[in-house]
Amino acid sequence: MRTLRTVADLRADLDGPRRAGHSIGLVPTMGALHEGHLSLIRRARASCDVVVVTLFVNRAQFDESADLEAYPRDEQRDAQLAAQGGADVLFAPAPDEVYPPGFATTVSVAGIGAALEGEQRGREHFDAVATVVVKLLNMAGPDVVFFGQKDAQQVAIIRRLVRDLDIPVRIEVGATVREPDGLALSSRNVRIAGGDRDRALALRSGIDAARACAEAGERDGAAIVAAGRAAMNALSVEPEYLELIATDTFASVPELNGEPVLIAVAARVGDVRLIDNEILEPASAHRRP
Ligand code: PAJ
Repeated sequence: MRTLRTVADLRADLDGPRRAGHSIGLVPTMGALHEGHLSLIRRARASCDVVVVTLFVNRAQFDESADLEAYPRDEQRDAQLAAQGGADVLFAPAPDEVYPPGFATTVSVAGIGAALEGEQRGREHFDAVATVVVKLLNMAGPDVVFFGQKDAQQVAIIRRLVRDLDIPVRIEVGATVREPDGLALSSRNVRIAGGDRDRALALRSGIDAARACAEAGERDGAAIVAAGRAAMNALSVEPEYLELIATDTFASVPELNGEPVLIAVAARVGDVRLIDNEILEPASAHRRP
């Protein structure tokens, strides 16, 4: 695996394979790689001729400077893991390479970006994600780009911008990888203090309780949400949000109506902010007791 730092080097590296008709897969990450990232890298390896993993801690998308400062950084470890996962190229540019002096352009996806995470973290968060993802796609020009369902709203935003801006790339979404007890893997999990580890399961419990409520025949969104919140409160965790959301528009769903819905949750556990989600398919959502 080769590590490249500049856009020029990346393009020169990919030029040959592209001319030879080889497919290029891109896995954007901010490093601190775990099994969630590696599942995407392996998936890219299985379906693309050349696999590029990007490692760039995108300052602009952090709304809290403490979160940015505490973000785990270990390029050597990440490079080893990416190589083991099957990456051919690690693209790890310096901040100036991505945002040269005078950088002034923002990509902003209206609507989807305003809800949930956008509401909690500010519009700037998804503007920064959208902007850097468009840049990474333009830098590498991949045939396929891989994202995790763990960040469902991010996926919805990227689907929208790829369609809206006619970016010629196919998006593949990998399932959320979890610890055996159900906690979704996140680079921030290493910061969960020992005593808070059990409480971190509140996100999973909230989703499970909301799903169980829907599976028992409840269709009223508020009642399903209340069941989820109660399960979280039982573990002394107050969600920032727990909502039923339409998977395409990200609008709130007041009542189950035969369409798949996303149960999305965010909560702060100790110092660490965690998110999780699950898609509730109509078959399970509408099963009558
Ligand atoms: P990062 O948080 O490093 O995540 C990189 C990719 O890994 C994202 O697509 C994310 O959804 C996926 N991922 C994270 N945890 C996962 C898990 N438990 N299971 C499956 N996939 C998981 O998301 C970002 O970086 C950034 O916003 C980025 C897209 C790189 C733009 O800066």
